Amino acid sequence: MKTTKQLRTLLMTMSLLIAHLPIVAQSYSTKLLSHEQQIDEIIGSMTLEEKVEMLHGKNMFSSAGIPRLGIADVEYADGPFGIREEMEPHSWNSAHLTTDSATFFPTGSALAATWSTEWAYAYGKGMSREARMRGKDMILGPAINIQRIPTGGRTYEYLSEDPLLSGMLAVAYTKGAQDDGTAVCLKHYALNNQEDARGTVDVRITDRAMHEIYLRPFEMAVREGDAWGLMAAYNKVNGRWCSENEHLLTTVLRRQWGFPGMVISDWGGVHSTVDPVVAGLNVEMPGSRFMGKALIDSVKAGKVSEDVINQRVREILRVRLTVKPIDKAVANSKPVGNDEEMLTALQVARRSIVLLKNEPIVGKHALKAAKNQPWPLLPLNLTEVKNIAVIGENAVMKMALGGVGAGVKTRKEITPLEGLQAVLGGGKKITYAQGYKSFGKDSRNKRQSPQQPADKQLMAEAVKLAKSADLVIFFAGDNREVETEGSDRKTIALPSGQDELAQALAKANPRIVTVIVAGGPVDITTVDAVSPALVVSWFNGSMGGLALAEVLNGNIAPSGKLPMTWPRRLEDVPAYATGTYPQKADNSQGDIFVGLVNQGQNARAAGGSFQPVAHYAEESLVGYRWYDCKNVEVAYPFGHGLSYATFQYSNLKVSPTLDGFDVSFTLANNTQFDAEEVAQVYVSRPLSHLDRPEKELKGFQRVALKVGEQKVVTVKLRRSDLCHWDEAAQTWMLEPGNMVIRVGGSSNNLPLSATTTL
Ligand code: BGC
Repeated sequence: MKTTKQLRTLLMTMSLLIAHLPIVAQSYSTKLLSHEQQIDEIIGSMTLEEKVEMLHGKNMFSSAGIPRLGIADVEYADGPFGIREEMEPHSWNSAHLTTDSATFFPTGSALAATWSTEWAYAYGKGMSREARMRGKDMILGPAINIQRIPTGGRTYEYLSEDPLLSGMLAVAYTKGAQDDGTAVCLKHYALNNQEDARGTVDVRITDRAMHEIYLRPFEMAVREGDAWGLMAAYNKVNGRWCSENEHLLTTVLRRQWGFPGMVISDWGGVHSTVDPVVAGLNVEMPGSRFMGKALIDSVKAGKVSEDVINQRVREILRVRLTVKPIDKAVANSKPVGNDEEMLTALQVARRSIVLLKNEPIVGKHALKAAKNQPWPLLPLNLTEVKNIAVIGENAVMKMALGGVGAGVKTRKEITPLEGLQAVLGGGKKITYAQGYKSFGKDSRNKRQSPQQPADKQLMAEAVKLAKSADLVIFFAGDNREVETEGSDRKTIALPSGQDELAQALAKANPRIVTVIVAGGPVDITTVDAVSPALVVSWFNGSMGGLALAEVLNGNIAPSGKLPMTWPRRLEDVPAYATGTYPQKADNSQGDIFVGLVNQGQNARAAGGSFQPVAHYAEESLVGYRWYDCKNVEVAYPFGHGLSYATFQYSNLKVSPTLDGFDVSFTLANNTQFDAEEVAQVYVSRPLSHLDRPEKELKGFQRVALKVGEQKVVTVKLRRSDLCHWDEAAQTWMLEPGNMVIRVGGSSNNLPLSATTTL
């Protein structure tokens, strides 16, 4: 019998002999190419001035059409999780309309925690329906950068640390929005993975890591979702600003992927006149500092050919003629925040909530009804729990607005306390204490550290309440001032003295359910140690409080799964462990966008001399890929999330298909709760001669199972997802050889496995 080592050498030699198979990119099906003749005629009749008028912002959130030819302006709207309120045309001041409300959808990480393409589609559709009512042509979202650092100011807006999960949800969101008639604008292309110095940082990354991890969600949303728009990010990639990065905009986006649509700049993210237009940027937003008169002059001086201008106009017209303009008299004529969209927000929120832990409580505080049988705190046992203390300001705090960037002026936001009152209702006594002073309230314009000590008086009141209650629900976590566009968190520690408060509460009453309200990971070491039950409820949209109450009460079983790893310590995070983040950043020159808000539409991108370089030294080992390979223990792993039900996985079968493999297995729910489970499929290539992570997510499916039900589930593994990026050949390649397929309900709990050959 051959040893593993001999076998490995043999297989390696064999696989080197068999050439890797290149996967040639084919053109994809797009709706954008059905007006080419009309576009030829339009462009043929336009003056240079009319053309250039289309290539920059008209108002803060629009770019010009061609009034003489009846071609409407393009109307844009933030953001990824709700249609932003109207601004005055040339400033960031609110227009003070009474009709520019919208549904506040769960933010990106909450959507991703559903692992549901079906609900991501509904979410995109809901966004589009409201965008249409508000007169918008293009939604500035979804925001699909990879969550490289948990502290990232926009981790809450982004989806996941994993490219497949991000990509599949981005495709579904895109299709949902565009099938309903509104274009998406995928942002921020590319590698905007930190907010500190986002306007100046230069990301240095290998081509392979860039394609396999950071560009992959964009590629999927473009080629599989037919996304019609992209937004170029503020930062540089490998030495060039994204808004004028020929490699990203021409070589990759337009040549390798075949993208025929339009690219707009991030707000204030243009730095010159000719390079962006030549590289493939269509619209400078929001003003005309570089791509207005200066561009006309450049064409006249022969620095850029009018053919290039024509091409950029063509790409805009493809989108403009595909999206039906909304009559200005109809736009914003009715308040928005429709029942149907609110219901979608609720359905997403219900599936996003993650039960991290639910342990029985033993000893003298055990629930009486369960003396001989350990009984967890959740779902709430209301025959025994008659008096609930709700503690922590996050139970009453609204999260639709805040931070620097996109917020939603929503008609409705049900807070967790309101949700609990509505769901538990009647005789159940719910009392509330603030517990801590939320960060942001007193900080006015000056940003202080959220890490303030506990407020002794608020703590004393909360402890008193906890003592008198049968059970405590402690709302910890961040808020929209702690996690915000324009700056990163300096730590993942819980803000506002919450750890100290949690310990004091636990002494008063150990029956604690801790609910974390946050968009990204926080350090839960202390709350985990004192809370038998731990729940993550994200920034969960207009209906988030109701969804949470339904889950705590057991009306529905929790089914969210972490879309990113929750690390134990910040030092363990790959970007920190490799010393490549933070880049000793001094953010004193301010954020690029804040500069724009203060200086107006034509402000130049903030820059200054502080231009850090971010070397992505961990390459493709982002998130769980790193922790797996380096054997680093984490607090809660990627894909983790418990239910009130338990699920049995059995009968794994792997069969080849034309496009990859069908992975089939039986999933059974033999418990007392109707529930949904997210089955996850990971692939390892133990004999690969390439550097690869220990395992990678290659497929998943959300499955609903009633009490006692079992289903045969089939997850498709697609060949395109099994490839690696070959830097020399500049294409995707399939490496033949052995492949281990593992299936289960979390990246660290994969009971089924099979080996097959590619
Ligand atoms: C953000 C974008 C946003 C734009 C317009 C920028 O600062 O980075 O995500 O769409 O502002 O509000």
